[in-house]
Amino acid sequence: KYAGELELLGKKYTTDDWTNLTPKIISKLDKNLHTRQYHPLSHVRQKIVNYFYKNFRNKCGNPTFSVCDNLPPVVSVYQNFDSLLIPKDHVSRSKDDCYYVNSETLLRAHTTAHQVELIKMGLDNFLVVGDVYRRDEIDSTHYPVFHQVDAVRLCVREEVFKNVCSSESLQLFEVKGKESEDKQAVHTLEAVKIMEHELKTVLVGLAQALFGSGIKYRWKDEYFPFTHPSWELEVFYNDQWIEVLGCGLIRHEILKNSGVNDRIGWAFGLGLERLAMCFYDIKDIRLFWSEDSGFLNQFRFDDPDTPVKYKPISIYPQLANDISFWLPVDTEYSSNDFYDLAREHGGDIIEQIKLIDQFTHPKTKKVSHCYRIIYRHMERTLTQKEASAVHRKIQEAAASELKVELRI
Ligand code: PHE
Repeated sequence: KYAGELELLGKKYTTDDWTNLTPKIISKLDKNLHTRQYHPLSHVRQKIVNYFYKNFRNKCGNPTFSVCDNLPPVVSVYQNFDSLLIPKDHVSRSKDDCYYVNSETLLRAHTTAHQVELIKMGLDNFLVVGDVYRRDEIDSTHYPVFHQVDAVRLCVREEVFKNVCSSESLQLFEVKGKESEDKQAVHTLEAVKIMEHELKTVLVGLAQALFGSGIKYRWKDEYFPFTHPSWELEVFYNDQWIEVLGCGLIRHEILKNSGVNDRIGWAFGLGLERLAMCFYDIKDIRLFWSEDSGFLNQFRFDDPDTPVKYKPISIYPQLANDISFWLPVDTEYSSNDFYDLAREHGGDIIEQIKLIDQFTHPKTKKVSHCYRIIYRHMERTLTQKEASAVHRKIQEAAASELKVELRI
């Protein structure tokens, strides 16, 4: 598709059989919604940054957390996976889940991809904010590009035990420790418990700063390859529990590989879209990409804590059109390939695509999929004629590019 070479953000990359970027995805690379003035995602970023500026200050009263919000999203497989101890055969590395530039380079699937390089630079307290890319189904809460904030805090022995009296004998590390549910082998339980307490206090504080001081929350045990122990924070909002963030104590091996031997640290990561959808009552994730002034003007204010209730710009009717085909027998096929192709041709007038039926022919053993594509324009009523034209293009493209056999 891209003959040998691809230019992204002014840099050239060779392509290979891992390349699965699409023009639509490439067009998102320079959007930087998270730093665009008055954008709702930028307001939520600013609320989080302000919380850290306010709560972590050094002796001179200056903020201790550095904020990196303009690191390019094109990263190496090493940054996104290996540096974070994600196993070579982990599902999250699959071509079906990530946008690869080539076999060694991809669009970051999480902002955690920058953790090691920033620790190596000598930073002890930092936030990373950026756009992340994951191949996914398409509906009102999933979009293949979204935004995350990651944070890291590293502490030396004296910082960890600063509020403990007669702490001279307390240590961060022990030699003959064993890994358990509570801690990594190298850490002492007392250091881990203090860090866990700080992490959870900071994050509950953040949830209260964002959702209000009365917010109901709960912790769940989680698993991430790069932290142990790990947790997830959920808050109760609009009658349901929503996942807000993942966090944990950084695997010591990651710190050691980054040249840090005398510190223990915590990290967390969260998604901005889900938070913004709650705060502003935005029902459809595609709206963040809208250039409609009716949408954007509702967020034209400087103080990110300005109360707003987003008023939906309008509700236009949905149009459902189905497409059925036999999957190819001798080439690979995945539904995500179809979702990308449909998005490529339909763009943002596709609100949802659902696999509504599949079956295997008893004699030929051929597999058939039927997808329902819901079309809806954000700004006006779409006619069936317009939807049909796009639908036909998608059918033709599926037949020629994915080698499926249409059933009409
Ligand atoms: N990177 C994780 C995600 O995308 C979140 C995370 C970050 C969890 C840092 C723990 C520590 O889900």
